[in-house]
Amino acid sequence: MENERAQWGSKIGFILAAAGSAVGLGNIWKFPGRAYEGGGGCFLLIYLFIVIFLGVPMMITELSIGRASQTNIVGVFDKLGHRRFSWAGWVGVIGAFIITCYYGHVGGWVLRYVVGYASEAPKIYDDSLGYFYNMLGYNADGKTFFPWVAVLFAAVFMLINAVVIIRGVEGGIEKFNKFGMPALFFMLLVLLVRSVTLDGSAAGIHYMIYPDWSKVTFDTFLAALGQAFYSLSIGMAILITYGSYLPKTENIPKNTALICAMDTLVAMLAGFIIVPAVFATLGEQEVGKGGGFAFVSLAKVFEQMPGGTVFAVVFYLLLLFAALTSSMSLIESIVAFLTEHFSWSRKGATIGVCAVMFLIGCLYTCSQAAFPIKGVWLDAANGVTFPAFCDFMEFLTDRIMIPVCALGCCIFAGWVWKPEKIIAEIEQDGVRFRLAKVYSVLIKYIAPLAILAILIISFVTGMTLS
Ligand code: PHE
Repeated sequence: MENERAQWGSKIGFILAAAGSAVGLGNIWKFPGRAYEGGGGCFLLIYLFIVIFLGVPMMITELSIGRASQTNIVGVFDKLGHRRFSWAGWVGVIGAFIITCYYGHVGGWVLRYVVGYASEAPKIYDDSLGYFYNMLGYNADGKTFFPWVAVLFAAVFMLINAVVIIRGVEGGIEKFNKFGMPALFFMLLVLLVRSVTLDGSAAGIHYMIYPDWSKVTFDTFLAALGQAFYSLSIGMAILITYGSYLPKTENIPKNTALICAMDTLVAMLAGFIIVPAVFATLGEQEVGKGGGFAFVSLAKVFEQMPGGTVFAVVFYLLLLFAALTSSMSLIESIVAFLTEHFSWSRKGATIGVCAVMFLIGCLYTCSQAAFPIKGVWLDAANGVTFPAFCDFMEFLTDRIMIPVCALGCCIFAGWVWKPEKIIAEIEQDGVRFRLAKVYSVLIKYIAPLAILAILIISFVTGMTLS
């Protein structure tokens, strides 16, 4: 089995595929909202700090153990002789599954906006908030209805995923990323110029630059940790799977630095596009946190741009592709696990998984407004609470499952399998890992302690559930 594993067709193919997994809705849909809630400037600093000192070593670790074991996330620990760590793999696979359930639906929103701008842009400009609400099943005077628009587009999004995955990832994902990523980047630069020159955006820029430490709580750290890992696709089994397709000649630390830099740059760009746009347009209360940020606030930016509608279509199209490469990486790692662990057929596993994800995702979309579907949450400060199901899914994955899986991986790498083996895996074929010592300290002490501390403290101080 193992020696039949696919390999990336080219060096740039791998970097772009990993970057494609990393750059996605997390950067553009989630990051600006989180940065806003976390106090702007200070969130950016905390975020950067976490990416450099926790994100980079975690990514190096996942890619290396993936490449060393040549297998999927659950099999990894078994293969390397430590079966009792398989729980970390299970948390990763289940987390990836839950993320994809809602990721597929938000991907559907993006598709909705591609079609919307292409066919009825004036309607969006006219009432950008109403358009967004309408997609999710409610209107301004509080009437709710079944969000069939969102559900329909989510179904199409998942269908596209399934078709591409059944055909095999390498060709498709690699090819798209080669031109899609640079194009997305260019588009963001154009939007940045327009957004920061909008009337009234200065306050937003100020907010994103000057740290307002009064907004920072322990919860901000957990939010930044969850966001950073989510955005880099860490703690979710993806990089282990991708690492297993990686030729031994690749320089893992160098690639990691590049991927982390690209991902963070895109997130920052999105933050500096969307937050000022929110300040310049409807204001935070109206636009709504999270979701609305990337959809509602940009309408004014496009409206006030020459050729804005064309830009809008191209922008959402690129975002759609970015979302697809991320969701495919998630589904691919689950499918890789099911086919290798339970010997399911690739086609059957893909169709089954995508269908179930879509259905669970419907609960996410329906709980936005139309139906009062609740999750359950427990922390020491607030006791048991019942957040909306959509928030529940995101909290469960970003704030528990990702950190826990990452914690398992770094304890395994730092204390059980040992950094020396990781370094040996990296230093093959003449590759030199100059920061090996720093890496060992980070993965043995800093990363596990920081993740554990953040997890415990935010359990004790409670989470701000929106
Ligand atoms: N990193 C992706 C994004 O930012 C989402 C993702 C999360 C992909 C976890 C894989 C694993 O959108």
